[in-house]
Amino acid sequence: MTKEMYPEFSLDFVRVTEAAALMSSRYLGFGDKEAVDGAAVDAMRGMLDYIDIKGTVIIGEGEKDEAPMLFEGEKVGSYADNAPEMDIAVDPIDGTRLVAYGLPNGIAVMAAAEHGKMSALPTFYCKKLAVGPELKGRLDINAPIRENLKVAAAVLNVEVREITVVILNRDRHKEIIDDIKTAGARIKLISDGDIAGSIATATPDSGVNICIGIGGSPEGVLAAAALRTLGGELQAKLWSQTEEERILLTEQGWDFDKVFHTEDLVGGEHVIFAATGVTKGDFLNGVKFVHGKAITESIAMRMPSATVRYITTHHDLKKKTIRLKSSSGDEKYIDIKY
Ligand code: FBP
Repeated sequence: MTKEMYPEFSLDFVRVTEAAALMSSRYLGFGDKEAVDGAAVDAMRGMLDYIDIKGTVIIGEGEKDEAPMLFEGEKVGSYADNAPEMDIAVDPIDGTRLVAYGLPNGIAVMAAAEHGKMSALPTFYCKKLAVGPELKGRLDINAPIRENLKVAAAVLNVEVREITVVILNRDRHKEIIDDIKTAGARIKLISDGDIAGSIATATPDSGVNICIGIGGSPEGVLAAAALRTLGGELQAKLWSQTEEERILLTEQGWDFDKVFHTEDLVGGEHVIFAATGVTKGDFLNGVKFVHGKAITESIAMRMPSATVRYITTHHDLKKKTIRLKSSSGDEKYIDIKY
């Protein structure tokens, strides 16, 4: 596919994540995860169809039977005649709990790649190791964390105690957290949101170096899309919740020892990643209301140029409309005044 066939879509995708962030932020702090997610999903579906692509959701909210909207295989985009075919990954909100309780780092996220170049993993969770450009190619998801920390310290020319590791605060991580403490590195425990955690490793001045642990597989693929553009790396391995799941997937040909590298998850030349902050986070501010305007902060990245844009948008609340495609069944577009 030639470059000419991929117009610059970054801003179109930012409009999608902005709309998801704006709509979900109506439920900030209500304690209602479903309302947060549902509002973001309807906005993403409505706004995605404005974009001149022939899109297929590869990473979505789940399989069709369980998720009636943004399910894997759903067609999104205008489907105009000459529109390019693209694989789409969405996480309408990464950190629904964070938004539901008004906590930091909730983001609306999506990514796109050339058709056939994005891979969904079959397990709900995967084991991940994410790093920024300096540590790319230097660490190994199969190595003990103390070894990786030693290598990271040597490469970065610092002491192990100066390395900071981001990890989800979960019981399943008790052992690795103990090992990090024993090795003497610092730990940033996060309650949710490992896409933001992974991206932080490749964000200058974030103060974090490695994001590790078991988290959602869709979040792994979305983080891989961002890290490709940022010059970082994400390694992933399948992680089953039960022995039955492991046996079943092994019988289907999946290899639990295989390491999936960044480009196995998001390959091809053309990649776009967009995210908008819903609550204030490490690299994006949340939705703010100031004098009749909603202000959003987003990041848009694209390959092959590796351009990273930070976009601050002022939405005039008297004029702002958002197109929703409702999940309630009738599949009609509704233009709402925000
Ligand atoms: P949701 O917003 O979909 O709830 O995901 C938040 C999240 O923290 C992800 O960032 C992470 O990958 C995953 O959940 C971890 O799953 P779990 O909460 O089941 O440990």
